[in-house]
Amino acid sequence: MTEIQQNTPKKRIFSGMQPSGEAHLGNYLGALRRWVGMQDEYDCVWCIVDDHAITSGGDPAEMPSSVFDLAVSFLAVGLDPERSTIFVQSDVHEHTELAWLFNAVTPVGDLERMTQYKDKAQHFESIPAGILNYPILQAADILLYKANAVPVGEDQRQHLELTREVARKFNARYGETFPITEPLIGEDVGRILGLDGNAKMSKSLGNTVGILADPDNVWDKVRTAVTDPQRVRRDDPGRPEVCNVFALHRFFTEENAREEIEAGCRSAELGCVDCKRILSGNIATSFAPYRERATHYREHPSEVRDVLDQGAEKARKIASETMQEVRRKMGLNWRNAIP
Ligand code: TYM
Repeated sequence: MTEIQQNTPKKRIFSGMQPSGEAHLGNYLGALRRWVGMQDEYDCVWCIVDDHAITSGGDPAEMPSSVFDLAVSFLAVGLDPERSTIFVQSDVHEHTELAWLFNAVTPVGDLERMTQYKDKAQHFESIPAGILNYPILQAADILLYKANAVPVGEDQRQHLELTREVARKFNARYGETFPITEPLIGEDVGRILGLDGNAKMSKSLGNTVGILADPDNVWDKVRTAVTDPQRVRRDDPGRPEVCNVFALHRFFTEENAREEIEAGCRSAELGCVDCKRILSGNIATSFAPYRERATHYREHPSEVRDVLDQGAEKARKIASETMQEVRRKMGLNWRNAIP
């Protein structure tokens, strides 16, 4: 390492994931796999965002195990508490406090324009305010740590634009405080399609494969995946360029095997079921080490608790410094009136 590199502080990155049990392939390719590779280059803060998750109205009794299962996924894929800060959002109360303060600089119109808000709002007769304010909490997550960049999938881009706007507005009104955070969106993994061909793989759509699923379960899911819609009969030649199963081979199958699959599909020598079997086998094989580590953490849950406790402690230190500065700048320091 050169002297310059040693003296330059690492840039900080923050990212979050909602706890809905173990991570799926979309979370993994769009986020987790990239996060693991960033741990040496950046000062990393990874958060399980349970305060966000309550806006979807899930069963409170399931929340603790959903958080635990996601923490197991984090550790199993190689997020490393020695190199990263890993914690649960509700353990650091400054997130919700800063979100409230950001209400002061966020126009309601900006929130109403969010496409995720518009999508989610359709499902309610009376829309909970938390769904509208969701991106303010996301801005608070990121800016509490003054993160320079945020690695996410494409679906988060608009929320990150709002985060940048909140930072700009806050800085203009209260003085330079927050960085204008950059989104880091993977070019080829920004939007992993659902196995059903839906534009997004998402647990709520039931079109995912869990990264810790056992091989039979991976097959059960991959077996149902849609392929080239024009390949109706076994003898029809296929078009790998429009097939999502072939797209997934890109991440799990060696190049020369992929070339063979491509040729076999075009010539109809290889059928869709066999092609899916190869993919399913390769997914299960490449995640085998994760399943093994997950088993370890499930058998030693106190190790997971210790990681999250220590992560929360580290996060709170940074968060409380930012909040002191924010409260002072916003005039929330009445003791100053007393000489
Ligand atoms: P969430 O929990 O829906 O997803 C977590 C991460 O996984 C990515 N992702 C995908 N990437 C590619 N293709 C897919 N099909 C796919 N599905 C999910 C997401 O883009 C995301 O990076 N609002 C956020 C959580 C959040 C957050 C934050 C993120 C709260 N605070 C601060 C970044 C910074 C969410 O619901 O992600």
